[in-house]
Amino acid sequence: MRYRDAHHPQWVVAAYALAPPAFQKLLAEELAWLQRLVQPPLVEVGCGAGRILAALGVQGGSVVGLDLVPRYLVAARRLNVPAWWVAGDGLRPPLRRNHWRTVIFGQATLGSLGSEPLRRRMLTSLAELVAPGGRLLVTAYGPQARQARREWYEAQQRAGLLPPFDPARTREGTFAFTNGFVSQELTAHELQAHCPQGLVGAVTELPSGLLAASWRRV
Ligand SMILES: C[S@@+](CC[C@H](N)C(=O)[O-])C[C@H]1O[C@@H](n2cnc3c(N)ncnc32)[C@H](O)[C@@H]1O
Repeated sequence: MRYRDAHHPQWVVAAYALAPPAFQKLLAEELAWLQRLVQPPLVEVGCGAGRILAALGVQGGSVVGLDLVPRYLVAARRLNVPAWWVAGDGLRPPLRRNHWRTVIFGQATLGSLGSEPLRRRMLTSLAELVAPGGRLLVTAYGPQARQARREWYEAQQRAGLLPPFDPARTREGTFAFTNGFVSQELTAHELQAHCPQGLVGAVTELPSGLLAASWRRV
């Protein structure tokens, strides 16, 4: 399976199955952090094949996974998790506004949107979904996660899931690939500066270097 097959329902599953130990630790820390904070009704934007929602195992309220790639949702539906799987864009989510106690935008997807204006548009859009008193939970790769990310990308390259790095655009915390995909790191300060209007909260750095923002709608 090659990167051009990334819309195959199993691609996102295969990529996470290859995570080396340091990256597995980062993923486990993210799940543990989310587990402490999530309450239904809950929506995860960018849910992929449902890995996070399946692990969280939230009971007793509505749970929705939204993703841009309908074929990832084919794999998510096979998990048999009590959730609704919805195809759509987080920039224009086909979901009720001011309703959700928890909105998750996890696994550092923010850093792959490509630009700061797009990151801000996405977070503004996601903030509109949050009910008063509810939380927007967002993660991003910080500088301390760089080595673990590199090892994960290299494992995917060896398996043919990702193309080579684009040497002209890969530097420090930015990993760019020859197919145009880019993943950027943020500092804790930069992530906090993205806190949407009307929300308050803080960014914490998990031991693996993943930055985790918990912003509450006031
Ligand atoms: C890094 S993967 C994470 C998948 C899943 N959250 C996990 O951790 O296993 C990012 C996911 O975000 C989705 N995505 C990217 N941009 C999106 C957007 N604008 N709206 C909805 N989903 C989006 C991608 O299709 C992909 O499934």
